[in-house]
Amino acid sequence: MATVGAAAVTYVAPPNIALVKYWGVRDLARRIPYNSSLSVTLDRFRSRTRVAFDPALRTDEVELNGAPADGGPRRGVTEFLDRVRDLARIETRASVRSDNNFPTASGLASSASGFAALAGAATRAAGLELSDRDLSRLARLGSGSAARSVFGGFVEWQAGTRADGADCYARPLFREDHWPALVDLVLFVEGAPVKTVRSADAMQLSVRTSPEYARRQRELPARLRRIVAAIRDRDADRLFPLVMEECDSFRTVCETTTPSLDYLTATSRAILAEVRAVNRTHGRPVAAYTHDAGAHVHVFTLAPRLPAVRRALAGLPGVRGALVVRPGPGGRQIAPRPAPRGRGGRTRRAGARGRSTR
Ligand code: DP6
Repeated sequence: MATVGAAAVTYVAPPNIALVKYWGVRDLARRIPYNSSLSVTLDRFRSRTRVAFDPALRTDEVELNGAPADGGPRRGVTEFLDRVRDLARIETRASVRSDNNFPTASGLASSASGFAALAGAATRAAGLELSDRDLSRLARLGSGSAARSVFGGFVEWQAGTRADGADCYARPLFREDHWPALVDLVLFVEGAPVKTVRSADAMQLSVRTSPEYARRQRELPARLRRIVAAIRDRDADRLFPLVMEECDSFRTVCETTTPSLDYLTATSRAILAEVRAVNRTHGRPVAAYTHDAGAHVHVFTLAPRLPAVRRALAGLPGVRGALVVRPGPGGRQIAPRPAPRGRGGRTRRAGARGRSTR
């Protein structure tokens, strides 16, 4: 086994919001989901992770948001580093410093951005040059949804059919500039509970106990196809009802899990009700809500409608903030600055990270 030098690599990666949710794995060790999922990679938010493998270190040093990590979060990082060490055939310990510019464990998918950034920084710092597809496969093992944050724009994580997970990775469907009018109003609610059950455990509870799980699985392939087609055609009238139908289906599965999984607060529920009311008033779907395993709510709308939608929602009691985000680029190395494409620098590829189309 070799060691590598202490050259640090810093990588940033964004969170994503799923329009078709990943919820349940058929292979826990390989994190292979039951269904393909689809998300929008978000601009404005990011995890930034610096990794240096250092022969002088005796154990991994992990700092998250300015404080030494311990317990589950530390273990998640060190186990992920072990995978990278295996791939690179090294034993060197690493120092990892990571921070988010948004609240951790808030339902804003910090594990997606965090593990996508860690995968990029750790592999590069270990001297590995993975394709984006391989990076997505690797990031998935840290956190399923991280597979999608490798890429920008509208991203599908295909579940694949192979037992070894070789065809289980994300791929970009449409670039971040595909639909400039589409905006995501993120509504932060007061008193959002901190998650006590990790998503990885919660989703398997749903698989085992929700009587709605099997039906959801049967519906998903068609819903995913229709959502992809609506995004392709930039057709909000078709997309928005499907996004809400999918969110409702996910929530029903959570609520019918034993013990029941309830991620929303009264304010989150009031936002969902208000979106339905706004759509009824307009006589057509001008907005669509969705949420992950958390209480904050994402409301998609088109830019011309944003002021009216924002007025209707941001003033609801219990909403403590609203931020407008858009589809953004995927993960990328920021230090050392990657060599420009085609100049024969050490960087492979991928000047196009996050900007590719299918
Ligand atoms: C509801 O990717 O956080 O946000 O694989 O356990 O890390 P782990 O789960 P995670 O679960 C995300 C679930 C979801 C839906 C989604 O993002 O697709």
